[in-house]
Amino acid sequence: MNIALVGLQWGDEGKGKIIDYLCRSSDIIVRFQGGNNAGHTVVINDKKFVFHLIPSGILRKGKICVIGNGVVVDPKVLIEEITALKKSGVKISNRNLKISPFCHMIMPYHRLMDALREQIKFQKIGTTKRGIGPCYADKITRCGIRMMDFIEQKIFFRKLKDNLVEKNAIFKKVYGVKGFSVSEIYKEYSRLAKILKPYVCNLTDYFYRLKNKSFLFEGAQGTFLDIDFGTYPFVTSSSVIAPNAFLGSGFGFLKLNKIIGVAKAYTTRVGEGPFPTELDGAYLNYFRTTGCEFGATTGRPRRCGWLDLILLQQAVRLNNVSEIILTKLDILDQLEKIKVCVKYRSSDTAIKGFPCDLSKVKPVYKEFNGWTFSTYNIRSFRNLPQPAKNYINFIEDFLGTKITFVSVGEKREAILEKH
Ligand code: GDP
Ligand code: IMO
Ligand code: MG
Repeated sequence: MNIALVGLQWGDEGKGKIIDYLCRSSDIIVRFQGGNNAGHTVVINDKKFVFHLIPSGILRKGKICVIGNGVVVDPKVLIEEITALKKSGVKISNRNLKISPFCHMIMPYHRLMDALREQIKFQKIGTTKRGIGPCYADKITRCGIRMMDFIEQKIFFRKLKDNLVEKNAIFKKVYGVKGFSVSEIYKEYSRLAKILKPYVCNLTDYFYRLKNKSFLFEGAQGTFLDIDFGTYPFVTSSSVIAPNAFLGSGFGFLKLNKIIGVAKAYTTRVGEGPFPTELDGAYLNYFRTTGCEFGATTGRPRRCGWLDLILLQQAVRLNNVSEIILTKLDILDQLEKIKVCVKYRSSDTAIKGFPCDLSKVKPVYKEFNGWTFSTYNIRSFRNLPQPAKNYINFIEDFLGTKITFVSVGEKREAILEKH
């Protein structure tokens, strides 16, 4: 069974927790896009792990975790992540962590460029400032440094030098800031390259030869942060939707049996950009505090809003989702009334189909009774309060897609199978 799992909103849907749950029955867990802009949380016995680059399956014994070619790798962050996990007793070696030689490396100048661009007001996207966009830009303009270049000292030095000629001139002339020294970066980063070299693996070859293995693709970000189909320019710089699982990993020889979409029972977003069901005042405060809606990567407060079924419908289509897992249902527990967006309108006219520009639409809501009853300790779908079941059934019917699991807490065991 090969599965791709993707976020259906603007990221932070709870993908990390679900990957940790689902990967029990997978052999190989693969990140195929994004970088350390991602923050995927897994909570086990009150211990919290936040993954930025390593697939969330690394905590389970016997799993192989893969960082595919579509991922941009900050070597410093990756080494920090490996070191921290080892300190917590997680075994990591090149037997359970494999990195594609084709990954592009995030360098200090990518991070600086990301931060400087954010300072220009008209371009502000609210990025994570992790250098993601500038690194992907270099990949496409073909001046990027791949993992395979990075671990070959002479090639790394030459490519670094070439890049800095151009980048330092831009830093100085356009932004008026000091650039970087080739020798300083080389000295620091060639040491990091030596640490990462053993993990580099010719993935397609290696996995093609392994038979009868099941793959789980771990999407990062969410559908509406997709570079093509998201709320451009307020998006990330990679293709986050399920069809990219193969392009970002080199495992096109597989067949996907399931495409699972993860959706939060309400909506959140970090950074700038349109958000039709966004809330303010008391409701925003409720979601942010009850749902602990602060970024797992940057700690920024997340914007919060009601569930948007028009958005989810589009995400189901774009990803060809075969089933949905609904998370954070417990966060709705104390609400007397719950709203769900079932239509968009512009002025007084209902909009048909999915609009190209979300900034121009207003939501039309359907209101549900809440349940004011804690679902946090419930461990069987049957025992959910009836209004919660009504809410879930309505979402399922509206989208015409099965909801197979509902998550009611951050812990591993807080997940209910819906029969
Ligand atoms: P990801 O980026 O999609 O993996 O999501 P994040 O880890 O950034 O954010 C999800 C947050 O919600 C994390 O703090 C999780 O521990 C937490 N979480 C996940 N599922 C649930 C749930 O069902 N209920 C509650 N209360 N918290 C959850
Ligand atoms: P996970 O995998 C939520 C957002 C940023 C910003 C935009 C562009 O944890 O769901 P970038 O640094 O990628 O150039 O920023 O994308 N963003 C995320 N928001 N969850 C994420 O990842 C995100 N990764 C990027 O906040 O709005
Ligand atoms: Mg996250």
